Amino acid sequence: MTQTITVIRGDGIGPEIMDATLHVLEALKVGLSYEEADAGMVALEKHGDLLPQATLESIRKNGVALKSPLTTPVGEGFSSINVALRRHFDLYANVRPAKSFPNTKSRFPSGVDLITVRENTEGAYIGEGQSISEDGETALLTQKITRKGSERIVRYAFDLARKTGRKKVTVVHKANILKTTSGLFLKVAREVAAQYPDIQCNEMIVDNTCMQLVMRPEQFDIIVTTNLFGDIISDLCAGLVGGLGLAPGANIGVDAAIFEAVHGSAPDIAGKGIANPCALLLGAAQMLDHLGQPDKAERLRAAIIATLEAKDSLTPDLGGEGTTMSFAKAIASRV
Ligand code: NAI
Ligand code: MG
Repeated sequence: MTQTITVIRGDGIGPEIMDATLHVLEALKVGLSYEEADAGMVALEKHGDLLPQATLESIRKNGVALKSPLTTPVGEGFSSINVALRRHFDLYANVRPAKSFPNTKSRFPSGVDLITVRENTEGAYIGEGQSISEDGETALLTQKITRKGSERIVRYAFDLARKTGRKKVTVVHKANILKTTSGLFLKVAREVAAQYPDIQCNEMIVDNTCMQLVMRPEQFDIIVTTNLFGDIISDLCAGLVGGLGLAPGANIGVDAAIFEAVHGSAPDIAGKGIANPCALLLGAAQMLDHLGQPDKAERLRAAIIATLEAKDSLTPDLGGEGTTMSFAKAIASRV
């Protein structure tokens, strides 16, 4: 039976990079069928709703979505449509690989190959219990960490290590200062790590981790951490390997998963046909792994690398003169 996935073309450069991505998937013969659903500004204009019920229903039914960036209008109801989606489907694991690629404007053209596994549903990042005193002098935020939330994300990281043949998981925390919240996360992480004697585990405090990532990123394999630390660290890692055009992310839950680029809708270059499609393509590769097509995922990644190596039709962010579609066609010809 053909697997159907939900496709969200999104805003800004979204439709352009989605066209490019679907063109490459076509060449790969992934055998998927697509159900289009709207979200973001385009949905607001068409349906009067940033995140229509029909879109949620489509993702629920198919269990897998490939999503372009969405513009979150300032001053509207949602703080972020992406956060709303993650919460709605309890997509607890945010998985963000960072890998060195040839011919990028990176400080590390080789040697980086790590995955940040970020808890996606709790901690300071979700902004729970935010309040400000009447005199405007004091602001509060509740930071809640649970055993359940910590256990499932750490377990996800160790299972991912086993599944992908990776050797080491680094637990990143600030338990020396944040003794209750980060302390609970670290305690649970140690308990889970003890159940995976085949995977090396080390612990690192978050500020030192940032320095270590910049100095010696090759020492990291899988990083697992709480929501806000993961947000910051994964951007740092994207920066190490050449920036936004190359950074994909997966949001994984028990019943649904959403695959995307880390970057936004890039209104400054939208409609010009020059956006780099690689981040969404790499997100699609994560999706193929998830769908049980690891051979196709690997062919897709290899074709991207070969196209970068050949400097064939690279987009301007990578120093080339190609377009979104000519770059995609160059990749498609190598799958
Ligand atoms: P952005 O990521 O859209 O753009 C930042 C810079 O990177 C811009 O100069 C842009 O041209 C460049 N850039 C981004 N993707 C690129 C690509 N594929 N190829 C070449 N250059 C690329 O971030 P910005 O401008 O802060 O946000 C724009 C909108 O996107 C906002 O409404 C924001 O809320 C939304 N956004 C959505 C996300 C999502 O849906 N996952 C994630 C981040 C932001
Ligand atoms: Mg972020």
